[in-house]
Amino acid sequence: MAGTKTFTMIKPDAFADGNSGAIIKMIEEAGFAIKAMKLVRLTAENAGGFYAVHKERPFYGDLVKYMSSGPIIAMILEKENAVEDFRKFIGATNPAEAAEGTVRKLFAKSIEANAIHGSDSDENAAIEGSFFFSELEKH
Ligand code: CMP
Repeated sequence: MAGTKTFTMIKPDAFADGNSGAIIKMIEEAGFAIKAMKLVRLTAENAGGFYAVHKERPFYGDLVKYMSSGPIIAMILEKENAVEDFRKFIGATNPAEAAEGTVRKLFAKSIEANAIHGSDSDENAAIEGSFFFSELEKH
């Protein structure tokens, strides 16, 4: 059975452009409840650890640099079928392929600076949520 939690980050480009408020409003209006939220600036080491699964990919170095270039907002969200529904809601990784009305279609600048992250499985949602939040912070 699909889980009810997912993890997201509003990425440095979207935060720096002042789009966090609009994105959070969209998230809530789409029926996702915010269970935990924090504003943090990742170090390169933090970003490298978070994206360790992509270590062998050619874009890894740039991704680490970009994700540590400014503050991000991390959130744990709750909804039925959270992971799949949230990935549909944010749109394709490459904004050129993102559907109309999705967060990435509206706010992403490029395949790298793509405004928002969404976990790709229930297992990764739990791992990624725990990367940012202690048990006490998960409501
Ligand atoms: P995200 O869904 O957070 O997961 C990995 C991130 O790597 C992705 O969003 C993009 O920000 C970044 N990225 C940069 N280049 C690529 C690429 N060619 N394919 C996939 N992801 C990329």
